[in-house]
Amino acid sequence: MVAEFTAWVSTHQSRFEDVLQRLLPASEIAPQRLHAAMRYSVLEGGKRVRPLLAYAAGELAGAPVERTEIAATAVELIHAYSLVHDDMPCMDDDVLRRGKPTCHVEYDEATALLVGDALQSLAFQLLSEHRLNDDVGRQLQMVKLLAVASGSRGMAGGQAIDLASVGKQLSLPELEQMHIHKTGALIRAAILLGAYCGDKLSEAQLERLDHFGKLIGLAFQVVDDVLDCEADTATLGKTAGKDADNDKPTYVSLLGLAGAKEMAQRLHSESMATLNEFGESARRLRELADFIVLRKF
Ligand code: IPE
Ligand code: IPE
Ligand code: MG
Ligand code: MG
Ligand code: MG
Repeated sequence: MVAEFTAWVSTHQSRFEDVLQRLLPASEIAPQRLHAAMRYSVLEGGKRVRPLLAYAAGELAGAPVERTEIAATAVELIHAYSLVHDDMPCMDDDVLRRGKPTCHVEYDEATALLVGDALQSLAFQLLSEHRLNDDVGRQLQMVKLLAVASGSRGMAGGQAIDLASVGKQLSLPELEQMHIHKTGALIRAAILLGAYCGDKLSEAQLERLDHFGKLIGLAFQVVDDVLDCEADTATLGKTAGKDADNDKPTYVSLLGLAGAKEMAQRLHSESMATLNEFGESARRLRELADFIVLRKF
């Protein structure tokens, strides 16, 4: 990674931690245990890829950073909730997340369920109580966008396909649909929500950005499949080899390790092509796309 990009990442990651600290309910406030579990599940750890994409898209669209990071928080809270539920015994049954015991292990299953519920509600509370665009119609569109990306036609729907696919061999288009929904939808939403906080982009440009999000969101999960198979537990901060253990269809199980890596590369190139028209102004998004496919954790 170029040093200048690394510095941009650390600056924004640390800025974003402060935003999360501020926007999550304090653990001294009742109900203390639920608030502590929410903070445990969101703070400390996590690459913050979705917020970084939102910051980059916000910069491209000329958005005030104070607005972008509220939208970024909403997406990250939905993401964190999806991880808490994804790890529960009724789903992937994982005990390690971001290098710590998973929420239901550290607390209990009922608390983990409620953490997910409360994080999801908080995300929509933030999107509706902070001014994110001077155009109220645009802001309403943002609320809907995150709702669709999180729901049965988005992340939750993708998770349903994932669970229904255990032990099955999916076709490539079926696997693509699963990944586009369970992971792609929120990544795509992060980019568009960041951009919607600004006013500099035309509808055609926003559409191109959305296409970029679709491709890089899919690439993100292909790489997640590769890392599950190739990386170790200490590096990942979550138990490696779980997809094979749980008999999940993945890009690795369908195409093999080399085939899955090739697919990630292909999606990366396609995503880069969608940014051509933006020229130098899309540099951060290009760097983040590189990070998404080259990452080791
Ligand atoms: C993991 O997401 C779950 C998927 C959607 C693939 P991340 O790899 O972004 O997890 P964190 O937020 O960095 O822990
Ligand atoms: C998770 O996919 C997708 C969501 C949480 C929505 P995975 O089950 O592959 O994520 P990890 O590998 O546990 O992080
Ligand atoms: Mg899962
Ligand atoms: Mg999982
Ligand atoms: Mg995985």
